[in-house]
Amino acid sequence: MLPRRRPARVGTPCAVSSAVRFPGVAIYLAEPRMGRSRRAFLTRLALSKGFRVLDTYSSEVTHVVMEQTSAEEAVRWQESRPAPPPGGTHPALLDISWFTESMAAGQPVPVEGRHCLQVAVRREVLPNPVWMPPYACQRPTPLTHHNTSLSEALEMLAEAAGFAGSEGRLLSFSRAASVLKALPCPVTAPSQLQGLPHFGEHSCRIVQELLEHGVCEEVERVQRSERYQSMKLFTRIFGVGVRTADQWYREGLRTLDDVWKQVQRLTQQQKAGLQHYQDLSSPVQRPDAEALRQVVEAAVGWALPGATVTLAGGFRRGKLQGHDVDFLITHPEEGQEVGLLPRVMHYLEQQGLVLYQQHQRSPSGDPARLALKGHSMDTFEQSFCIFRLPRPPGTAEGGTWSPHPSWKAVRVDLVVAPISQFPFALLGWTGSKHFERELRRFSRKERGLWLNSHGLFDPEQKTFLQAAAEEDIFRHLGLAYLPPEQRNA
Ligand code: UTP
Ligand code: MN
Repeated sequence: MLPRRRPARVGTPCAVSSAVRFPGVAIYLAEPRMGRSRRAFLTRLALSKGFRVLDTYSSEVTHVVMEQTSAEEAVRWQESRPAPPPGGTHPALLDISWFTESMAAGQPVPVEGRHCLQVAVRREVLPNPVWMPPYACQRPTPLTHHNTSLSEALEMLAEAAGFAGSEGRLLSFSRAASVLKALPCPVTAPSQLQGLPHFGEHSCRIVQELLEHGVCEEVERVQRSERYQSMKLFTRIFGVGVRTADQWYREGLRTLDDVWKQVQRLTQQQKAGLQHYQDLSSPVQRPDAEALRQVVEAAVGWALPGATVTLAGGFRRGKLQGHDVDFLITHPEEGQEVGLLPRVMHYLEQQGLVLYQQHQRSPSGDPARLALKGHSMDTFEQSFCIFRLPRPPGTAEGGTWSPHPSWKAVRVDLVVAPISQFPFALLGWTGSKHFERELRRFSRKERGLWLNSHGLFDPEQKTFLQAAAEEDIFRHLGLAYLPPEQRNA
């Protein structure tokens, strides 16, 4: 379950670089039309801004940048390179525009359709309408896709609908956004939405406006609204959900200072969240997740030899950044995992690595049965933590002042699953959230089976379906297997 790319090492840089600020991004400047001196110049520029530039093409490369190269040439170039390792994906094949925009922004800008070189080739063969299966679990959704600005706009509206308690609108916008992420090419005309599932009148109107004017009045208005801004701010605090944020908003709270003034009414979790707000609201980078994996592995190995640690969540799906790091712990012998977590936490605390932890014991009784009784919360033994991650010298994030440059607070979830439930736990904790929601809905509506992170239940036969690996669960559901990196729905 290791991430395919492990950018912790600085590969073979072209020149001496300043500190690497975006360790998850490894650029390769492809030379054909660029020329050697121009390439050297661009390399120096990128290095000076804290980007990693690799001199040779390897599986570590995440972004290939070309200049004055047609999409056909770019694709031929890529085809002549070594194929990615099994389960891996090709790096993004990008026009120089992505590079110049990133240099101007001082950070990697999100890859959009207009940056992608391979896109133009496929655009001509885009069938209209595109056939798209209705459930996100029925189609691959890669991490980088061709409609970022459109899907982000719809996702923001989904989030705002969630803030307003409109579950229906949240789902509609999330599903429409997810469809865009699965398209093989950028949407350039509203007519291309015809026949796509989950594109109702409202989502169509948003996309149409964005395509015609570059901006959408409703998106701008919602995003700028005081309500959205405050809800976003509050729900970013560890331990604060929509309900609490909404209550605070209705009481007139608007800023973190307002929240600090009421600190006595916060839960311990929320207090810890507020204390570490700055660190916790800046993204966790993949090398941080890797460093944490080693720390957790050491603790687990000490607490119970033979127990294993698996990285789940967004990082397992190939994301380069995340809001937290999710780990699953198990042992190949059922029952051995009982009582493991307190020992792991004790070890980590002894090392001075834990700033906050909240332990959730698993209730007595068959956890699978308990969990299937209705509510969707897991009943695994788990720990919601804030870790104190030492920062290697010279890696403090550029521009952000920190009162403690030698370490960073990071949210970590540790979940213990018995081996018999492990594939379900892994599937459930790998996400994305929308993918999971769709998978469970598909399971229930199309197959009459109840799925959660503990098991898959057949209510007619009153039996649990067994699985030794994630692949078995997809097979039980009659779905083609999707590897984690294609679950970015
Ligand atoms: P996350 O919220 O950590 O999302 O949940 P993520 O995809 O890793 O993204 P970032 O980068 O951290 O923001 C990961 C998966 O774990 C499940 C979620 O449903 C999601 O699929 N999860 C999370 C649970 O099953 N239970 C929880 O209590 C929390
Ligand atoms: Mn996560």
